[in-house]
Amino acid sequence: MSDIVVVGGGIVGLSIAWRLVSRGADVTVLDGGDEGAAWPVAAGMLAPGGESEHEDPALIRLMERSADRWPDFAAELGVGVGYDDAGTLSLAMTADDLAGRARVWTRQALPLLRPSELRELEPALSVRVRAGVFSSRERQVDPRKVVSALRERLGARIVPKRVTAVSDVDARTVVVAAGCGTAALTGLPVRPVKGQVLRLRGEPGLVRHVLDAAVDGREVYVVPRADGEVVVGATQEERTDLTVTAGGVHELLRAALDLVPALAECELTETTAGHRPGTPDNAPLLGRLDDRVVVAAGHFRNGILLAPVTADLIAELVLTGEADPMLADFSPGRF
Ligand code: GLY
Repeated sequence: MSDIVVVGGGIVGLSIAWRLVSRGADVTVLDGGDEGAAWPVAAGMLAPGGESEHEDPALIRLMERSADRWPDFAAELGVGVGYDDAGTLSLAMTADDLAGRARVWTRQALPLLRPSELRELEPALSVRVRAGVFSSRERQVDPRKVVSALRERLGARIVPKRVTAVSDVDARTVVVAAGCGTAALTGLPVRPVKGQVLRLRGEPGLVRHVLDAAVDGREVYVVPRADGEVVVGATQEERTDLTVTAGGVHELLRAALDLVPALAECELTETTAGHRPGTPDNAPLLGRLDDRVVVAAGHFRNGILLAPVTADLIAELVLTGEADPMLADFSPGRF
């Protein structure tokens, strides 16, 4: 067995392992499989502003640092991972939707765009869209391509194995990055938050901005990729099952088609559900649990965004014993 074992083969565990390997460490990843994982479902929005309903300044700083790291992280992977900097339109369909978004938009200090300006940027938007803002900092990546690139780079260092107790892992240091599985391994409060997500394919006339919208009180995002895939998400349900429901699909399609009517002509290619790993404050758990065990889990809606900064901070902690001051607010011991 290696000096360092990472328990968890999702995007967070693989990113940590890869950062450790690139710094010369001897690492094994124990991968318990993808059942219920968030990354295969995730749209890959890199949204330090749009996803932060909670305004915890430390979490916003962490998200912004990771967003800034993404261009290099994607480039380092050396293959196309769908990193796309076309930016995001955050949109409101009605006056009530606008009131709901106003606080985040004010904090981001982005100029409000009129419907005509929005349709200049994305002509396929519904004529009902009332207002929006453009954020060039909020981007996208394709999580499936990222994980496949990380798997390729780590190769035989990844061993398929479901761990049931950290005490069974023979290593000097164990990094638990097991998403929702972290709760059973450590006793930390990580809960599954179900998200249903759809994938469409076609040519709805979108220019490739991520659309993140409030539509008649419903939240929806539409993420068009350069290869013709359009991801529509996501429900947010405090449920442990992974059933794709008629109601979930209906809710997402109704909001997405209200926002971009031409999506009605696309093929519906995939309906999926995954579990986001949530914590009591929905901020991640990053840091030392004891002398041997380090935790990196509970990234909730931001696992893809936070992968690069998590990898940097955890690798530094494991290799030098030094905890970056940024970790102080995310201590696993805070609950
Ligand atoms: N980050 C998007 C989601 O969790 O639905």
